[in-house]
Amino acid sequence: MGKVHLRDNDTKEKKTEFSLVRVKDTWKRKPGKKVDKDKVDCVSASKIYEIVTEKDTTWTVVSPIVFTYKVTETRDLLDPNNDTLLLGHISDPQQLEEMKKSNKPFKRFVVVDQEVYKIYGTKITEYLESHNVLYKILALPTTEENKSMEVALTILEEVNNFCLDRRTEPIIAIGGGVCLDIVGLAASLYRRRTPYIRVPTTLLSYIDASVGAKTGVNFANCKNKLGAYIPPTAAFLDLSFIQTLPRRHICNGLAEVLKMALMKHRGLFELLENHGSMLLDTKFQDDKSVYGRSSVQAASQVTRLAITTMLEELAPNLWEDDLNRLVDFGHLISPALEMKVLPSLLHGEAVNIDMSYMVYVCQESGFLTGEEKQRIINCMVGLELPVWHEECTMELIQKSLQDRLKHSGGLVRMPLPVGLGEAEIFNNISYEILHRAYEKWCDELNVSSDSNCGP
Ligand SMILES: NC(=O)c1ccc[n+]([C@@H]2O[C@H](COP(=O)([O-])OP(=O)(O)OC[C@H]3O[C@@H](n4cnc5c(N)ncnc54)[C@H](O)[C@@H]3O)[C@@H](O)[C@H]2O)c1
Ligand SMILES: [Zn+2]
Repeated sequence: MGKVHLRDNDTKEKKTEFSLVRVKDTWKRKPGKKVDKDKVDCVSASKIYEIVTEKDTTWTVVSPIVFTYKVTETRDLLDPNNDTLLLGHISDPQQLEEMKKSNKPFKRFVVVDQEVYKIYGTKITEYLESHNVLYKILALPTTEENKSMEVALTILEEVNNFCLDRRTEPIIAIGGGVCLDIVGLAASLYRRRTPYIRVPTTLLSYIDASVGAKTGVNFANCKNKLGAYIPPTAAFLDLSFIQTLPRRHICNGLAEVLKMALMKHRGLFELLENHGSMLLDTKFQDDKSVYGRSSVQAASQVTRLAITTMLEELAPNLWEDDLNRLVDFGHLISPALEMKVLPSLLHGEAVNIDMSYMVYVCQESGFLTGEEKQRIINCMVGLELPVWHEECTMELIQKSLQDRLKHSGGLVRMPLPVGLGEAEIFNNISYEILHRAYEKWCDELNVSSDSNCGP
């Protein structure tokens, strides 16, 4: 919430702070902070500040808006015996009870990524039918290349034809980050804000796109240029979707997990270091035959830590008003790189290349020892992530940082690791350091690029 600045220098002005109270069905202003709560039905958290000068009168409204959303890790989401997908977003026990007792059938509009629909379409349909849901499933090719306003509008046309009740019938999105982002934007536009539910089916969207509030589509050749900060009413996370995900996409998701590990959690880094390749082999599934219980434990520890560390950083800063964001590590240069080489690099791959370069910046700056830097690079290679890319040139790095400067209040804030699992935000990294780090990065990693750098 922004601070209210009252003008003190104008002696002829009259400032009044009003509380807002409801008596029966009418809201009224009451001067001052103190309100006799016994005489009113409700006191709003909102305030109105009135400033009257000789020249003009201004009312400043301060209205704290609260978002409540759930992130639930669950199992067997599409099992007909599990009602989470239909009822899991409801927190009020009384409302839940009423819903369960009601004879009114559920009505749901479901948008599914086309590839996901090919694999899980029958299960989704069977699930909805078993609960007597009146449904419409819209399967769409939600790829990065058509992450656009046009696709959002296609969804909105269909939603409008379907006539859902915006209060009780959330739109459900099932797919990767692209699908979840487009549907989230469409829902935030429909009737100004229609609740929606996210069901991530990729690792990246499981630990990242589902956890926060951001929605968006690409525009004017820029990633996520149009979007809103409207969280889903709930995100339901079921690891079993990951078993059909191609290996490269699991690596892609692990890049965002590694980001959180490097910024905040040494234990998570060590889990990735020690169990990364097993997690890739088992696709985060319960593979007791080969790996015993360790695969189950490592998979759930990794996702839980990735989600909780991410939530810690996102929840206090849902609208990203604070520009000092650790979650931006790996996201300074990667957006330009990703758009430049689209579709050859996945989001997490571009993020990893950015992080790999930044690790060299950290070593040059004295924040990481040579040994720590090498451990991080080895971990990235173990997770089968690219650590260098020929299109990530010094020119692109400089241009990305300059663009950042324009949009971040004149300072390039760089979240950087200062040890394994600890980070700080810097705004004074010199061009000399950036350049020296770049030379070293190319010298050391381009050599091995034939085998493990760049897809
Ligand atoms: N909103 C946010 O906070 C946030 C955070 C991170 C990333 N993102 C966005 O997410 C997008 C990347 O997401 P992504 O990596 O999930 O990509 P994606 O949505 O393109 O999905 C990747 C591919 O996997 C396929 N797929 C999805 N689930 C599958 C499954 N279970 N089995 C088999 N195939 C499956 C899809 O068809 C697609 O081809 C980017 O556009 C990025 O901007 C958003
Ligand atoms: Zn990201």
